Formats: sequence, structure tokens, C-alpha cells
Amino acid sequence: MTFDRSIKIAPSILSADFANFGAECEAIEAQGADWVHVDVMDGHFVPNITFGPATCAAIRPHIKGVMDVHLMIAPVDPYIEAFANAGADVITAHVEAGPHIHRTMQAIKGAGAKAGVALNPATPASEIEYLLDMVDLVCVMTVNPGFGGQKFIHSQVEKVRQLRAMIGDRPIHIEIDGGVDPTTAPLVANAGADVLVAGSAVFRGGSVLDPAPYGANIRSIREAATSIEV
Ligand code: DX5
Ligand code: ZN
Repeated sequence: MTFDRSIKIAPSILSADFANFGAECEAIEAQGADWVHVDVMDGHFVPNITFGPATCAAIRPHIKGVMDVHLMIAPVDPYIEAFANAGADVITAHVEAGPHIHRTMQAIKGAGAKAGVALNPATPASEIEYLLDMVDLVCVMTVNPGFGGQKFIHSQVEKVRQLRAMIGDRPIHIEIDGGVDPTTAPLVANAGADVLVAGSAVFRGGSVLDPAPYGANIRSIREAATSIEV
């Protein structure tokens, strides 16, 4: 994985056909996705359950690019090795998921993956000040984690701006997760985000048998994020 700050669209397979993940991953990549975002939920840290490392390992051969695994689980540390072995390029854990997020970041890097830290909407940017010299990605949740299709929380744009200033020249991605569509993408891109996760706004209107709408949706998010000064 090389680092750059160009806009990257990361469709979340939370909005894909759960009976057809392999084909869905291939379809979104063929339609222009930069990363594939994989939402792991445990029914404990968040009020929803998705899947675990076995599913990640099964879809890995169907992804050519970056597999971006977002862990909405607590505890995190006992499962890091399994997600790294499943082929995750990026593993993101929540700062709210336990008392030892620094150790969790060390464990992710020790397992050979890029380390991401996610912040819930109520968590201030200052929480991760002392992690900035060790993380590869900061994920700003622009909805409360657990479900796709929720409304973008506008107060988070200011947090993105703060994080961008805190990060300075460090090679750290700022990822936005939740409610990203062509109307909200320019707000966060302008504030300094470079990885835009989108579930419903990418998968809307398409399917594995008719994937062209995925491409049109990805293009309209990318165009909105790259062309508008707000
Ligand atoms: C929410 C997940 C998101 C979600 C985004 O807990 O982390 O990745 O799938 O979905 P949309 O884009 O529909 O808000
Ligand atoms: Zn996510």
C-alpha cells in the first residue's frame, strides 16, 4: 500500500448482497472502487451482528486492492491476528472499544497490517493525540456505528478539520464512515478527508447482474468530492 491523499472511494459491503460477497467485491472494483470496506460487528460494541474473520478470508481472493476492515467489536485484541491472517490490509479499531487502544494499535502493526483508529461521533479529536505517531488511518464516524443508511452528522466536519491540522505532514489517511453521498462528500473532502466509505450511496440501484449503477454512484461521489470548493 502506498500513501497519497487523493480521494479514494471505499464501498462498504454492509450494503451488498450478503449471499454473494465475492461477486459483489469484484463488481465494485470493476466499477471503480479504490478500497473495499468490510464492517465487522459483534452485537455487543454495536447493536448489530455481521460476520467475522472466516468471511474476510473467504472474500479476500475476490479483492484485488485494499481490504479495509473496520472492527466494531469489543474486545479487539484477541481477534487481531485472525483478521490479519484473513488478509486485511488495514485493521481499524475503535478508541471507545477498550482501555488500551495504544496496545491495540501496537498489536495491529505487529500483525503486519496498517493500523486505523476510529472515533465515534461523541469522541473528541484530542482523544487520539498521542496515537498520531503510530497510526496509518483515522476513521471519523459520521453516524453512530451499527447500521447503514443513517443520516450524516454534520458536527463531525469540524472534527475532520481539527484532525487534519493535528496530523500535519504525517502519512495518515482520514477516512469518513457514515452517510457519505454526493451532497456530504464535498464537505468532508474539503475539510481534509481522503478515504470516503459509502454503503447505501454506492449499492443503491445496482446488483451483481446490473453493476453499472455502482459505477455511476462511485463516479458521482468522487466528482462531488474532487470538484467542489465549499
Ligand atoms: C456503520 C458502518 C458503515 C456503513 C456506512 O456502522 O461502519 O461503514 O456501512 O453505510 P452508509 O454509507 O449507508 O451510511
Ligand atoms: Zn465502517
